[in-house]
Amino acid sequence: MGAYVSNLRSVPSEWASRAYVDAAGHAEKYRRSVAEPEAFWREESACVDWIKPWTKLSDSSFEETDFGIQWFADGTLNVSANCLDRHLTERGDTIAIIWEGDDPSQQRTLTYRDLHQEVCRFANALKMLGTTKGDRVTIYMPMIPEAAVAMLACSRIGAIHSVVFGGFSPEALAGRIQDCDSKLVVTADAGMRGGKQVPLKANVDQALKHCPSVAAVLTVRHVGIDLPMAEGRDHWWHNLRERALPECTPEEMAAEDPLFILYTSGSTGKPKGVLHTTGGYLVWAAMTHHYVFDYRPGEVYWCAADIGWITGHSYVVYGPLANGATQVMFEGVPSYPDHSRFWQIVDRHQVNIFYGAPTALRALMREGDEWVQKTSRSSLRLLGSVGEPINPEAWEWYWRVVGEERCPIVDTWWQTETGAAMITGMPGAVAMKPGSASLPMFGVVPQLVDGDGKVLDDTAEGNLCITQSWPGQMRTVWGDHKRFFQTYFTTYPGKYFTGDGCRRDEDGYYWITGRVDDVINVSGHRMGTAEVESALVAHAKVAEAAVVGMPHEIKGQGIYAYVTLNAGEAASDKVRQELVHWVRHEIGPIATPDVIHFAPALPKTRSGKIMRRILRKIAEGDTSNLGDISTLADPLVVDGLIATKGD
Ligand code: PRX
Repeated sequence: MGAYVSNLRSVPSEWASRAYVDAAGHAEKYRRSVAEPEAFWREESACVDWIKPWTKLSDSSFEETDFGIQWFADGTLNVSANCLDRHLTERGDTIAIIWEGDDPSQQRTLTYRDLHQEVCRFANALKMLGTTKGDRVTIYMPMIPEAAVAMLACSRIGAIHSVVFGGFSPEALAGRIQDCDSKLVVTADAGMRGGKQVPLKANVDQALKHCPSVAAVLTVRHVGIDLPMAEGRDHWWHNLRERALPECTPEEMAAEDPLFILYTSGSTGKPKGVLHTTGGYLVWAAMTHHYVFDYRPGEVYWCAADIGWITGHSYVVYGPLANGATQVMFEGVPSYPDHSRFWQIVDRHQVNIFYGAPTALRALMREGDEWVQKTSRSSLRLLGSVGEPINPEAWEWYWRVVGEERCPIVDTWWQTETGAAMITGMPGAVAMKPGSASLPMFGVVPQLVDGDGKVLDDTAEGNLCITQSWPGQMRTVWGDHKRFFQTYFTTYPGKYFTGDGCRRDEDGYYWITGRVDDVINVSGHRMGTAEVESALVAHAKVAEAAVVGMPHEIKGQGIYAYVTLNAGEAASDKVRQELVHWVRHEIGPIATPDVIHFAPALPKTRSGKIMRRILRKIAEGDTSNLGDISTLADPLVVDGLIATKGD
């Protein structure tokens, strides 16, 4: 721990004097947020325009008897009006989105007025297609402005969007459409990533063979390819746009009306539809964006996340737009056309604030400093990190090479379920420790517990829980409220359990150590090992499969799959390739297994439970200390696994 502490980077003095909050302000705000929540949230919730102000702060309990989560419940508002209409008088001609295509020659800008008109038109098009308040709309889009337009249009009319990452396969898309019974799918002809086309509309066509609930598909022409259009079902956005008026009155929504569903992986079962509601989520996204990124009018902000993930929801769409920011939206990847791309974009658009994922930094770091150094980056003044623990080596590189020791780094720990940043740095207020997400956000009360639920005080390492509700907390699992309670509130009764391990040091800083459940984090993408297993066992040649994470230099974690083939099937490289291809087909390229280990048998207890602890150790290459294997039904299985590793 000493090594980390000696790495403490104090707040640069110019930041301490100019930021929205300094160290003393941070401590005082935190204290008030916990001790005087009513007064605190009365002030902070004013970052949002309410149609009808709220009178009741919250009604939340994590206990089984009176379980429920509500914030600002009697207030009303409209999210898209907050992100657009209220900026028009002062900032109508300010650029909201600077879009940069995968192809560096492609750029577009939209002012707040343009965005407002596009959203109104899109909202009217949704209405023409029969969408009304409460309907679910699945959005399967590339990173183009119309993705944000579609989300905001849903929020304008009170439809609930469910964005599905464009890298998911038709099978994964179909599952997510079916789960929430979407009536409408919004997509594009194709997306572009690293010079390659992603056939989005073709994937939708494939998925819809299994989705009877979908009555209409609205397709944005982006790449300009010819597509079969199903008569009566498929509509081009540019055709409807001609008939759609650029004005649409925003629907007055109750604070607890659903805003969106976003599917995320858990340790068991199929992905869960995480539901976020209107008022609390918007306050949380806008407030955290304001303090964490210290955004000032006139600055250019860029969050490099895809809108298919929660980071894209909160820090590309809702947080920055609610705060009237000018932001970059990037369609492509950091390595195309070359490894300078991120920093070329920073220079071209004079980006001041950059927020990205450690996996991209590690990949770029490996390519050498010259790709960074041939760009200026003089506009940068703040850097952010999200999605996975940032290893101190990547942190140092970010700090030294990218930010030239001038830009504070905010490491933000949070989850799809938490809506926005929960444990995070704050420039001007919180001294940095490389690798630590640092301190709780206002209103967040973390607690560490041991495996038995005993609360650990002071310096400790344990499982990370949050003891009190916060406005941006998810409200339910779509269609399965029981699963919501069971997943998050029963491991440690009365607390929200995050699924993460964490250490708290002597300065009260939090260090996330990674998931302690069967969720893995591959390149910042969250995946349930059970999902990959169920894809594998669906293959005709597979008898059994067990998947664990393994350390991976670039991705953080890689996917290590133990596979037992059916009797009579011979293991071979051909079968291995077949299985890799199969998983990509079932879930998408992000689930590509890094290792397929053909296992003669899997280590099981006498009651038939697979001992994953042993599988993790073997995957890590750490076979010297496998711990107690005496409870195994057949301890020799372990020797068989060790002997076949690397075959
Ligand atoms: O393990 C934590 C890791 O990502 C998980 C949440 O993934 P997801 O819901 O996809 O949201 C990612 C974007 C917020 C967490 O349980 N994680 C996220 N941010 C960090 C992190 N681990 C360490 N440090 C972080 N800054």
